[in-house]
Amino acid sequence: MQMNLDFHGRHVFVFGGTTGINFGIAQAFARQGAAVTVASRKQENVDNACRTLSDVGGPVHGACADVRDFDAVGRAFESAVGRFGPVDVLVSGAAGNFLCAARDMSSNGFRAVVDIDLVGTFHVLRQAHAHLRKPGAAVINITAPQSFVPMRYQVHACAAKAGVDQLTRVLALEWGGEGIRVNSISPGPIEGTEGFRKLMAPTPEDHAAARGHVPLQRFGSLDDISNLALFLASPYASYISGALIPCDGGGAIESVKPALEAASQAGL
Ligand code: COA
Ligand code: NAP
Repeated sequence: MQMNLDFHGRHVFVFGGTTGINFGIAQAFARQGAAVTVASRKQENVDNACRTLSDVGGPVHGACADVRDFDAVGRAFESAVGRFGPVDVLVSGAAGNFLCAARDMSSNGFRAVVDIDLVGTFHVLRQAHAHLRKPGAAVINITAPQSFVPMRYQVHACAAKAGVDQLTRVLALEWGGEGIRVNSISPGPIEGTEGFRKLMAPTPEDHAAARGHVPLQRFGSLDDISNLALFLASPYASYISGALIPCDGGGAIESVKPALEAASQAGL
């Protein structure tokens, strides 16, 4: 069930917004009448996303850019702002991840994820700043429970997302005076997404156990996340900034326990 908030006349830019959770967010804003820009690396994903978004709602713009390429990110904002004007809502959610023990991870593997998640988020926010509506813009970073729950085989993503959380806090401090709010959403396991397929337990038994670790006893949906994004971007959230908001059925507080057990088993 989607929240009903009006975003007609607003420009919403979703970086990494062509698939999965972020695309769910882009669709939610399109349904509420926003002019939506989506950007990511693969032209095919950009084209598919734009086609679907056009069917769903108002005007749509697509841009192809790798968040690791600072200049390409800047060009994506220039083309979008040329089309729809200043950005009212920026969602930054491009990310990559894979499971690998730290002792086996190559330097390039570690760097790939840190470059996409952390440096990429900085590139997006840094290039966006000149194009954000002032006052009034809302920035939403998509973080993850890995930012504060240590998870085995994800040393790269844990380090990167912890950095993303500090970007959120520091920029909320620096940009608050310009009337820009900066917040983060931390999704729990969201069914039907790439992150879920890559990182969650592979067998049905493991799956059930993972669901059992969520206090609300279910995995999340795309609507769960996009409703929070709609709220955070709306006037109802006008006094919320610098917040890291879990949307995870309570999973992050519960997963402190398995993380502690894992550390204890490893003799830490
Ligand atoms: N295990 C170990 N190392 C891996 C790996 C895996 N499963 N997948 C990639 N790597 C390593 C590569 O071997 C390479 O290191 P090397 O040069 O020392 O061999 C390094 O990571 C970069 O890999 P490459 O495929 O060149 O990176 P890329 O920039 O094309 O892709 C990834 C980035 C690896 C993060 C890729 O998974 C991706 O694009 N992910 C986006 C989708 C996604 O993960 N969604 C979920 C979001 S939570
Ligand atoms: P996804 O579908 O793979 O989404 C990642 C998006 O980022 C894609 O649109 C991808 O498109 C884009 N992207 C990846 N690398 C990029 C790069 N270098 N430059 C520009 N765009 C890039 O994964 P998802 O599972 O929905 O995850 C979305 C976000 O939610 C991520 O930030 C993730 O950390 C977070 N999250 C997910 C879960 C979950 O359960 N799925 C849980 C917690 C947090 P291209 O391939 O076209 O570039």
